Amino acid sequence: MKLIGPITQLLTLDSLPKKGALRDEHLEILTNAGIAIEDGKILEIGDYADLLEKAEKLNAKVIQLEGDFVALPGWIDCHTHICFGGSRAKDFTMRNAGKSYLEIAEAGGGIWDTVTQTRKLNQDELAERTISHAARHLNEGVTTIEVKSGYGLTVEEELKMLRAIQQANSNTHADLIPTCLAAHMKSRDFDGTNQEYLDSIATELFPILKSENLSNRIDSFIEKSAFSPVEIESYYQKAKELGFDLTAHADQFTTGGSEVAVRMNAKSADHLEASTEIEIALLAKSDTVAVALPGASLGLGCAFTPGRKILDQGGSLAIASDWNPGSAPMGDLLTQASILATFEKLSTAEVFSALTFRAAAALDLDDRGKLKEGLLADFNLFPTSDYREILYQQGKLKPEQVWKNGIKT
Ligand code: NIG
Ligand code: FE
Repeated sequence: MKLIGPITQLLTLDSLPKKGALRDEHLEILTNAGIAIEDGKILEIGDYADLLEKAEKLNAKVIQLEGDFVALPGWIDCHTHICFGGSRAKDFTMRNAGKSYLEIAEAGGGIWDTVTQTRKLNQDELAERTISHAARHLNEGVTTIEVKSGYGLTVEEELKMLRAIQQANSNTHADLIPTCLAAHMKSRDFDGTNQEYLDSIATELFPILKSENLSNRIDSFIEKSAFSPVEIESYYQKAKELGFDLTAHADQFTTGGSEVAVRMNAKSADHLEASTEIEIALLAKSDTVAVALPGASLGLGCAFTPGRKILDQGGSLAIASDWNPGSAPMGDLLTQASILATFEKLSTAEVFSALTFRAAAALDLDDRGKLKEGLLADFNLFPTSDYREILYQQGKLKPEQVWKNGIKT
C-alpha cells in the first residue's frame, strides 16, 4: 500500500447519475483526504489522519503533500485523431478567408490531405507522433485517450495506423483506446461506390481487427460529404454481428447521423452541433452518450453542441477534444471544456462528469472515471484549495501531479 495526502478537497464524483443535469451541490467533497493505492488501484479513500494511522501500522509508503491540492479522477478524452501526419495550416488560412469545405477540399486540403501525409509515414514514425501527442495530453491530466484511425482508408493503411496506435500504447503511461474510423470518407483511390467501399472494409478489415486485437470499436462519419445514414446502418449491422462497439461522427453539419447511432445502440454520438429538438429528444431518451467536441466548434467557427438542452432533457453528456490536424488542432481538453461551460451554461459538476465517468461510459469502460475503491488509481492533483478555480481559470490551471495506475507520471 501507498498513501498520498493530505488533499484539501477530494472530489470523488461517486454516486452521481450516469445521465441528466447536475448541480455542484451534488458533488461529494472530502476535505483533508488521502488516497491509499495498491497494485495500481484505489484501495481506500478517506480521512487522511485515519489512513495515515493504518499506513504507519502497515509500514506503508507515505507520500506527503505540501500545500493545497484538489484531487479529481484523471481526465478521459473519448474522441481524438492524434495519430496523423502533416499539418493543415493551409486549411486554417483558407477557412478564415471565407473558403467553403468543398473549395478547401478541391484546393488539396481537407481530410484527404491528411490521408496523403499519413500514408507517407511508416508505422514507427506514426507511433512516435502519437506518443508525443499522448505525452502532452497526459501531462495536462488526460490519463485515458481514445485514438481513431481514419487517415489510411485502405485495409493496409488502416492496419498501419491501428498497429501504430497499439505500438504507441505500449510506449506511453496513458491508456490509448483504439477505434477504427475506416469509414471517415471513401478513399479517393477506391474504384467503386460508397457501399462497395464499406463492404470491402467490413469483409477484409473487420476480421483482422479481431484477430490482431487492434480495435473493438467502429466509428464512421455520417455526413453529406462522407457516408449516408442508410449506408452506415448496414455497415454498423455487420460490425455489430462481429461484436464491435459502435460510435459515430453525427449531426456535425447536417442531421441524420444521431438517429442511426441511437437506433443501432451506439455507445456514443459525437459532434451534434446541428442537432435539433428532435435529435436532442432521441439522444436524451437513449443510452447513447452525447459527446460535445468544443475544439471542433472553435476550429471551424461553428455552433457548440447543445449540451445544456441534452442534459436538461435527461441525456448523458461527455466532452472530448477531437484533437485532429483539420478542425481541432489545439488539443487542450480542459480549456475547451471551460469554454463550452461558459457558452452552454454547464455546472462544474456537469463538466467534471463529462470529462470523467460519462466519457468512460462512452468508451464502455467501468473501471475508471471516479475516485472510488477498486477503480484504477488515475487522478490529478491541482494546486488550489477550491475546485471551482479549475474551470474559472479556463484551462490555465493545470494539474501539478498526474497519477496513472497508481504511479506519478
Ligand atoms: O471529427 N468530422 C470529421 N472528422 C474530423 C475532422 C478530421 C479532419 O478534418 O481531419 C472531426 O472533426
Ligand atoms: Fe472527430
